[in-house]
Amino acid sequence: MRTRKIFYHTLFLIAVLLGTGGVCQSQTDTEKTVTVKYPPDKTVMEFDLLGVSLAVPPGTADLIKVNVNEEEKIRIVPDREFECFSTGLSVGNNMIQILAIKQGKIVNDIFINVFRRSELESIYVKPPAGFKKDSFHAKNRKECAGCHTLVPAPSDRKPVSMTAFPDEKMKGTYDQAASVSTCFLCHKTLISYPFVHDPAAAWSCLSCHDQKAEPQYAVKKPDTKACFNCHLEEKEEWYSKGFFHGPFNIGKCAICHNPHASENPYNLIKDTWDLCLSCHIDKGSGRHIVKNFSNFHYHPTRGKPDPSRPGKELTCASCHNPHASDIPRLQRFNYSNLFGLCKNCHAK
Ligand code: HEC
Ligand code: HEC
Ligand code: HEC
Ligand code: HEC
Ligand code: HEC
Ligand code: HEC
Ligand code: HEC
Ligand code: HEC
Repeated sequence: MRTRKIFYHTLFLIAVLLGTGGVCQSQTDTEKTVTVKYPPDKTVMEFDLLGVSLAVPPGTADLIKVNVNEEEKIRIVPDREFECFSTGLSVGNNMIQILAIKQGKIVNDIFINVFRRSELESIYVKPPAGFKKDSFHAKNRKECAGCHTLVPAPSDRKPVSMTAFPDEKMKGTYDQAASVSTCFLCHKTLISYPFVHDPAAAWSCLSCHDQKAEPQYAVKKPDTKACFNCHLEEKEEWYSKGFFHGPFNIGKCAICHNPHASENPYNLIKDTWDLCLSCHIDKGSGRHIVKNFSNFHYHPTRGKPDPSRPGKELTCASCHNPHASDIPRLQRFNYSNLFGLCKNCHAK
């Protein structure tokens, strides 16, 4: 063990000496420094999580610091030849800096840029030039296979149907599902949020990610093709209505819902009010609610209890259905004149 360390140490010194000559990194060089195995620079992601894997040859670093957008996020004292971690991503570009430190000195300073796309913010819909998605599973990742199982186990292939999820009974088996899923070790942070979508909690990843898709694990588009495999009741109910919401109509469920998990009820990507305002910026004042009443200038749209939905807060969804409705303007309440609407919450 000790000789191995000295051996690597010597090699490392040679590597450093070679490096100072301004020589481009040779094969032996890269083997003796901390390198990012995943992701490549200028990768595009959809959601707020990123898995990173570093090769850390023995003796190359005794501390690794990770800064995301100039804020220190992770410290690792390396003890394996590969160090893996997950980090959160903000919408837009994320500058990930990996500092390898040895005996107090920075021996390696690596930058990678990862762009998190968002269809809710017009300036982030398209990634900047040169950025692209890197389908991890579409490539041979034999470097990872030494410690990870890259093919799904039989238990990962769960049937796709609502009846496969008999609610409470099934919930008791989620921990067990995680423990046998081959996806868990690399993707465990995906469900580390307060609100977890049931099929993700059950590690039924393949109920939406098709192993035979091109590239592997791509989800069918539009999202409705995946979502309505299970949400049949909602499908029937919503399609029976006369008016559909814009993003619903084009089948973009995941523009509003994170299919895995999130900080917000209903796995919403943002809390309802912020979500609606991403596209309807002018409606937050509630002016539109009372515009026909000259004596009122605004109406609250949040921060108060909702009299029509006990236990919930007033929000845009108090009056509008985000999916579909039989009443124009996606109204929840059926009313013939505006006072009829008001009466659902105001006694007089
Ligand atoms: C030397 C063994 C080893 C190799 C090789 C390896 N990993 Fe890991 N990886 C691990 C271990 C062990 C964990 C669990 C770490 C933990 O739970 O703290 C892990 C966890 C992960 C995680 C989850 C990290 C987190 O905290 O959420 C990701 C992502 C990951 N590995 C990706 C990769 C990729 C990609 C490769 C190939 C480039 C790879 N790993 C190669 C050992 C390895
Ligand atoms: C070696 C670790 C590892 C294992 C095991 C693993 N993944 Fe991944 N997966 C990654 C990494 C790394 C990425 C890309 C970065 C990220 O999404 O955080 C990724 C990306 C994905 C993506 C996005 C599409 C793509 O290919 O980039 C899907 C979907 C996915 N994984 C599903 C699965 C499923 C389902 C399983 C289990 C059958 C699984 N993964 C097992 C590491 C792993
Ligand atoms: C209800 C359907 C559904 C389930 C279940 C599901 N996913 Fe996904 N997943 C999606 C959709 C939709 C996307 C976005 C794909 C796109 O637009 O390219 C996605 C994207 C991803 C990505 C890429 C993230 C990014 O930021 O680009 C990863 C990684 C992933 N899924 C892993 C998993 C794993 C692991 C599981 C099992 C725990 C899982 N998914 C279960 C629907 C699902
Ligand atoms: C494999 C089956 C399955 C698929 C596919 C699926 N869901 Fe679900 N979903 C469930 C189950 C099970 C529940 C929990 C029981 C319920 O609420 O009816 C649930 C609940 C939900 C909830 C309500 C969460 C809550 O807190 O009440 C939302 C929102 C949701 N799913 C959205 C989606 C979206 C969006 C998609 C497509 C990207 C999707 N689902 C695809 C099985 C599925
Ligand atoms: C414009 C944003 C938006 C889109 C697009 C959207 N949803 Fe929702 N969804 C919401 C909001 C907001 C709620 C919570 C409503 C509330 O507070 O009552 C919700 C609630 C839900 C629920 C649980 C309660 C219910 O109303 O049945 C399910 C299931 C669901 N959505 C599935 C879907 C599916 C499937 C799609 C795609 C066909 C979709 N959603 C598209 C915003 C959206
Ligand atoms: C991704 C963008 C997007 C988000 C997020 C979004 N909407 Fe919309 N909304 C649209 C589009 C597009 C239309 C259709 C075009 C129009 O009439 O302006 C629309 C139309 C509407 C309408 C008018 C429908 C009609 O018949 O005139 C209402 C009401 C509405 N949205 C409410 C909401 C509520 C409530 C939320 C939050 C749960 C929300 N929207 C979130 C894009 C969005
Ligand atoms: C107290 C009930 C109520 C609440 C809360 C409410 N709305 Fe409305 N909304 C209405 C009514 C009533 C109309 C129809 C006005 C009309 O027909 O002229 C409407 C119309 C709309 C329209 C259609 C465009 C228009 O101006 O006619 C959009 C978009 C909309 N609301 C979005 C929102 C958003 C986003 C929120 C949350 C910030 C919200 N609403 C909160 C009652 C409400
Ligand atoms: C979904 C329930 C709901 C509907 C429908 C509704 N309101 Fe309200 N309204 C509220 C809530 C909640 C408050 C805040 C009460 C408080 O401050 O405790 C409020 C407050 C008000 C206020 C006082 C504003 C202030 O802050 O002083 C007026 C005026 C008002 N509403 C008028 C209307 C009118 C007119 C209509 C019909 C067009 C209407 N509301 C429909 C829930 C509703």
